[in-house]
Amino acid sequence: MSKALIVYGTRTGTAAITAQDIARELQNQGVETKVVDAKKEKIEFIAEYDLIIVGSGIQMGRWTGEPESFLKKFQKELAGKKVALYVNCGSAVEAMNEGKPEVATNARRRYLEEKAAKCNLAPVALGFFGAIYNFNTMSWIMRKGMEGERPKLAAAYKETQPGVYDTRDLDRIRNWTRELLTKMQ
Ligand SMILES: Cc1cc2nc3c(=O)[nH]c(=O)nc-3n(C[C@H](O)[C@H](O)[C@H](O)COP(=O)(O)O)c2cc1C
Repeated sequence: MSKALIVYGTRTGTAAITAQDIARELQNQGVETKVVDAKKEKIEFIAEYDLIIVGSGIQMGRWTGEPESFLKKFQKELAGKKVALYVNCGSAVEAMNEGKPEVATNARRRYLEEKAAKCNLAPVALGFFGAIYNFNTMSWIMRKGMEGERPKLAAAYKETQPGVYDTRDLDRIRNWTRELLTKMQ
């Protein structure tokens, strides 16, 4: 395996940071990797890539539009390629789902399995990763909604900077990336 493309869409930056984390791990494993913010760059050709990873943050149950458009635009070509999907979302945050394991199960199905099926894809891997909550930059309405959850976040996660809780498990993201390469061999 020589070349990978990661295409992502993000609203508050989480899926971008995750794309960089995945890219770093791929590069550590000797895979040349290009990372594209689908909002900023249009992709015209994908023939040169052996692996294509498409990811998004989730808001109100929805992916961002640009990676969805990418999946639609290249649907035929992607069917003949190794593809992986990932999402960053609040539903994957275990500390917030106490006693409600079905929240994560349902979200994984909706955001990843149904998305793959809709695009006629059989991905080699589906990555279901947590959120980054930044209380400094979130909109006031979001802060209003999240303030009640903040003590739970603070109890479960160390702030990476004041007011920033990264609920993602970086080891899980790295392992997912390595396993993905193993599955492709
Ligand atoms: C307005 C808003 C709506 C959200 N809706 C959902 C949702 O429906 N399901 C979910 O699991 N997470 C939801 N989240 C949490 C986001 O998925 C989480 O913040 C994620 O890190 C966003 O990724 P991004 O920064 O790449 O856009 C929501 C967050 C915001 C701000």
